[in-house]
Amino acid sequence: MIDPGALAGAFRARFGREPRLYRAPGRVNLIGEHTDYNDGFVLPIALDRCTWVAAAPRTDRALVVHSHEYGETVAFDLNHGGPEGRHYARRGDHGGRGTQSPQCPQRHWSDYVRGVATVLDQTDVGRPFQGRRGDVRRDDDVGCVNGADMLIASDVPIGAGLSSSAALEVACGYAMADLSGLTLDLDRLARTAQRAEHEFAGTRCGIMDQMIACHGRKDAALLLDTRTLGCRWLPVSPAVRVVVCNTMVRHELAAGEYNARRADCEAGVAALARTATSIRALRDATLEQLDAARGDMPARVHRRCRHVVCENRRVEQAAAALAAGDFHRFGALMDASHASLRDDFEVSCPELDTMAAILRTLDGVYGARMTGGGFGGCAVALVDAAREASVRREVARRYQAATGLEPDVWVTTAGGGVGAWPLHSAPAA
Ligand code: GLA
Repeated sequence: MIDPGALAGAFRARFGREPRLYRAPGRVNLIGEHTDYNDGFVLPIALDRCTWVAAAPRTDRALVVHSHEYGETVAFDLNHGGPEGRHYARRGDHGGRGTQSPQCPQRHWSDYVRGVATVLDQTDVGRPFQGRRGDVRRDDDVGCVNGADMLIASDVPIGAGLSSSAALEVACGYAMADLSGLTLDLDRLARTAQRAEHEFAGTRCGIMDQMIACHGRKDAALLLDTRTLGCRWLPVSPAVRVVVCNTMVRHELAAGEYNARRADCEAGVAALARTATSIRALRDATLEQLDAARGDMPARVHRRCRHVVCENRRVEQAAAALAAGDFHRFGALMDASHASLRDDFEVSCPELDTMAAILRTLDGVYGARMTGGGFGGCAVALVDAAREASVRREVARRYQAATGLEPDVWVTTAGGGVGAWPLHSAPAA
């Protein structure tokens, strides 16, 4: 857990000034995987683990950003729209998704910060409503983001399918907007963060992760319509627990596969739209329409689309089951989701399959599935509150026996979305 008081103290020690604190959560998706870039439905909860930013404005247009996790400081000049790339400390594991080489400057944690700063700066996202930056603005400035010193710390595991990147983008975007006196509603912030991920990290992600990082609510799951951004919060009953099981296999190099899945879905829509012009996205297609068009698309594309079409129905059914307190039904839908992601969408991996299979054998588990983009990361299970401790113990023991990997297993509550953290409520540094 991050101690906000200690974070503020570390900021003072590093930058010699008083910071403001902000935080945004990671997420675990209960059901609705790879539906969000198909205009479909998702049902995530915000984690009680967050990315924190301590920050203070500067009088120039530089962003000086230190990552506690990576022990690195990176400086950007917003007037030049790119990184100066000054890395002061260790450059070993660059984290994020995949690896970095000198030829490929992407896949560095700072891409997300640079991306959200640049997109925010270029977008007409609300005018400064305070005169704060009038005296620092140069004639050739077009942007609206002030320079800032920032210190980042996070307890969202990286590369685990829990959306550490969206937590980073959203926390930094919120901090920069606040320090720059920008009015920015949370949907715009989510869109800004998504665009940053597309353009600066190279993943053509959907909007789920950024929306739940913005809109998370305590003790509730978010039923999100990714076409309209309509939100409905469903209480998570105290009779159940959400158990997160990290396989400890990182989803390295998943961005290429992710983009390939998205391209397959788009190819399916193009084939469907030839006969049914009302189909703009897989969200609009029925299984009957898809099967009727089977001959018009490669078998692989048909399988990908079948996952998405069926997964959308499962989310609607799961939301109804959660609202009705029918946890057995909810669990069965989670199990079916996993099978579909494994067999039709092909984004699981042996360790995720093992974890989900073990979970399903345990007393008190209603259902289990991989969560997030796939190719590693975490499984999620819905568990009877009374059995949570034994489930955690047993799944860890059996998974380690089966794979030789020691998993990280914990219960998460649903937490709140992005926000400023009042410093006076933080324990003294
Ligand atoms: C990643 C993306 C999301 C979503 C999931 C799969 O987390 O960032 O937009 O597509 O994968 O459901």
